[in-house]
Amino acid sequence: MTHSIIGPVTFEHSLYGLGLGAACPRISWRLPVGSPDQDAYELEIQGNGGMTTTGRLASPERSLVPWPGKPLRSRERARVRVRVWTIDSEGPSQWSEPAWAEAALLEPGDWVARPVGGAWPHEESGDRRAARVRREFTVDRPVVAARLYATAHGVYEAELNGARVGDDALSPGWTVYGKRLKYQTYDVTSQLVQGPNVIGAWLGDGWYRGRLGFHGGTRDIYGTDQSWLAQLEILHDDGSVTTIATDGSWQASPSPIIMNSLYDGEVHDARLDDPDWSRPSQLEASRQSEPGNDDGCWTAVAVRDRDPATLEPEGSPPVRCTQEVMPVSITSRDDGSYLLDYGQNLVGRLAIAVDGPPGSRVTLRHAEEVLDGELAIGPLREARAADEYILRGGGTERWEPRFTFHGFRYATITGWPGELRAESAIARVYHTDMPRTGEFTCSDPLVQRLHDNVRWSMRGNFLAIPTDCPARDERLGWTGDVQVFAPTALFLYDCAALLDSWLVDVGLEQLPDGTVPWYVPVIPGAPMWTPIRPGAGWGDAAVLTPAALYLETGDEELLRRHYRAARIWVDLVTRLAGPSRLWDTGFQLGDWLDPTAPANNPAAGATDRYLIATAYFAWSARHVSLAARVLGNVADAEEYEKLAEEIADAFRGRYLMEGGRLTSDSQTAYAVAIAFGLLEDGYVTRQAGNRLAELVRDNGYRIGTGFIGTPLICDALTSTGHTETAYRLLMQTECPSWLYPVTQGATTIWERWDSLRPDGTLNPDGMTSFNHVALGAVADWLHRVVAGLVPAAPGYRKILFRPRPGGGLTSASASHETPWGRVGISWQITRGRLHVAMTVPPNCTATADLPGKPLTALLSGTHRVVVPVEGAW
Ligand code: BGC
Repeated sequence: MTHSIIGPVTFEHSLYGLGLGAACPRISWRLPVGSPDQDAYELEIQGNGGMTTTGRLASPERSLVPWPGKPLRSRERARVRVRVWTIDSEGPSQWSEPAWAEAALLEPGDWVARPVGGAWPHEESGDRRAARVRREFTVDRPVVAARLYATAHGVYEAELNGARVGDDALSPGWTVYGKRLKYQTYDVTSQLVQGPNVIGAWLGDGWYRGRLGFHGGTRDIYGTDQSWLAQLEILHDDGSVTTIATDGSWQASPSPIIMNSLYDGEVHDARLDDPDWSRPSQLEASRQSEPGNDDGCWTAVAVRDRDPATLEPEGSPPVRCTQEVMPVSITSRDDGSYLLDYGQNLVGRLAIAVDGPPGSRVTLRHAEEVLDGELAIGPLREARAADEYILRGGGTERWEPRFTFHGFRYATITGWPGELRAESAIARVYHTDMPRTGEFTCSDPLVQRLHDNVRWSMRGNFLAIPTDCPARDERLGWTGDVQVFAPTALFLYDCAALLDSWLVDVGLEQLPDGTVPWYVPVIPGAPMWTPIRPGAGWGDAAVLTPAALYLETGDEELLRRHYRAARIWVDLVTRLAGPSRLWDTGFQLGDWLDPTAPANNPAAGATDRYLIATAYFAWSARHVSLAARVLGNVADAEEYEKLAEEIADAFRGRYLMEGGRLTSDSQTAYAVAIAFGLLEDGYVTRQAGNRLAELVRDNGYRIGTGFIGTPLICDALTSTGHTETAYRLLMQTECPSWLYPVTQGATTIWERWDSLRPDGTLNPDGMTSFNHVALGAVADWLHRVVAGLVPAAPGYRKILFRPRPGGGLTSASASHETPWGRVGISWQITRGRLHVAMTVPPNCTATADLPGKPLTALLSGTHRVVVPVEGAW
């Protein structure tokens, strides 16, 4: 009997086999739902020095299994196939579709390219033109394969013979550039022609030298140049290789992009463009610049330096357009401008198709909200978020900015020649193109919208790095935001590679004493953030984000890679706390944005900041211990476990009072103490849970938590027997609550519970975004408790199905693409009966913990159970 294998065969945490950074990339494959368990596999590697097969290996493993062949050398390519034996089959399955693994440039010595850019003087201030660089070359022998390895100081888009290379945007993304700069690998075989060719790139300022940060920000953070570093390697049919690398033979020219900034937008003067700049036949013609316009001139490039040892192959998917959204309404206004509503707060940019006289200027402004018919630009602070296109004239012109992005639902367009039609201004959604892996549905439309909003906020904030918000002059990798949202993120999308990469930067930016920065990459900040100080909840990202990654993927390598950063963070806090084991000194953000905190002092919430700090200290110490245990480091495992216990003791000694009361009688205090298991004794924990439920009830079932308590409160209620209270909190529509923004038409998660206040005014504080992931961390509870899908072992090797219906919901479902295959649960309540369907991937086991039923063990496959339920359904 044969079984088809769900592909594709993949390598490491990458979607693509091209440009792999590992010489021995680990290999994964999926089996379809319903397949019998795998009990053996065989891998076949062809191409790296011949053929290697593992033979039949008795093993259920199929996630990140070791590379059985010889290590790949730079550029080496191997064809990989797998077949499996399942428990009920006599012979092997059919071979999988082959997948190609191709190594990137693994040695610094592989690089001959140098960064090249315009040689004109660096403009200290004012608008700076974006450059284009190019080189002509001849292909005189047949081509077998061609690869372009490219990166930039700044951001780039490559072209070859008049066409884009790839469909990525804002490459190479953002890393701690001084220490690591990612490069992309493109297969350009089909874009080359015999005879003359031209390769080139548009260059923008991006994160490298564009203005970044609040209070005016800083320019040139990583350097003053705008350069491209590229190596085109052409393999010919006779085995020879032609390498076209950026060097002094290239030319540069100012481009028609006369201003570009991630925050401010882009200005493009199409009159300055030569659309054929990257086509060979036009080289001579374009060299003669138009009369009176020197800008068309191509001049020798300036050659800069880059240590090739700092170049790293891109391991995560690129940023690209993932969706196009048409305006849902267009209002023409008295001044001749238009107001467009896209019906969805999104991140990206507008693509226009416009026809008008030369020199007409079309200006596109963006904002997340409108008030009284005007764009609400206050929350953008000093991000201008405006693009401008100056027409060349003579027919329909299509344009979209290249080197910026905006967070917006609304836009105004001024200067549009003629009548604006919906299809002439389409919003294009951009983010890191992570595969979607998690689904959630439920019968309540408001809760469903809340969940959809979480997904949209994730899309808007996972753009090259995980950010706090995408619209204002910030867009930084705030560590606390990532820490609280990572479990939700990892469920919804495969963002393991992106988070892994970001954590590498966390480790690079960590101070030698263990201090984890507030945001990563670090940029110069206001005095509050510079010099960097350690802060609970934020710094703990170094421990808890790798832990979340491990739980999701089961990949010990990820824990290992980030272990040192995690440990030295906890060591630092241990020193700060001293023998008391209480971290009760220094600056803390506390339960940031607790709704009772004054609008201009979000750290001054109802919960003692040091209670939170000590709670996190204990939680992180425990996670370092758990990581050490997985990594086989018994000494550390024991040391940090003991430490975690001592901290928990100290926590109780200092913050726990009679009757399960805490010194801070706040929702967040109880939520952290319960969720982090700090109260130990079951009776005290229940008392604390009762008090938490009471506080929630006394607050009219309105939320009272900020960034710290919000992800934990529903779990704390559920685990202490107050599931119905958690549901009342979830179902609340009055401010503050999760559903209040939904009733106000929110299409993303807001930064504040009242970013838009009940009186219809915007929260006047300068820190008011409409697209922040943190408060959306409740989605993790929706997945685990409402739908009931819980990872019970790393990588979902074991699953717990524990739905806890409530809140009047009549159905819910969750499904998730795990390393072992798709897992899912759905339930409906009809006529007093709960119908549950659960799907367990091959080789996994599950426990069903259904209301009113004893625990049941499940093997792989789909299981249906019906349980009578009491109550109002
Ligand atoms: C960011 C947050 C961040 C916070 C920390 C804000 O400006 O948007 O999400 O965590 O600062 O203070």
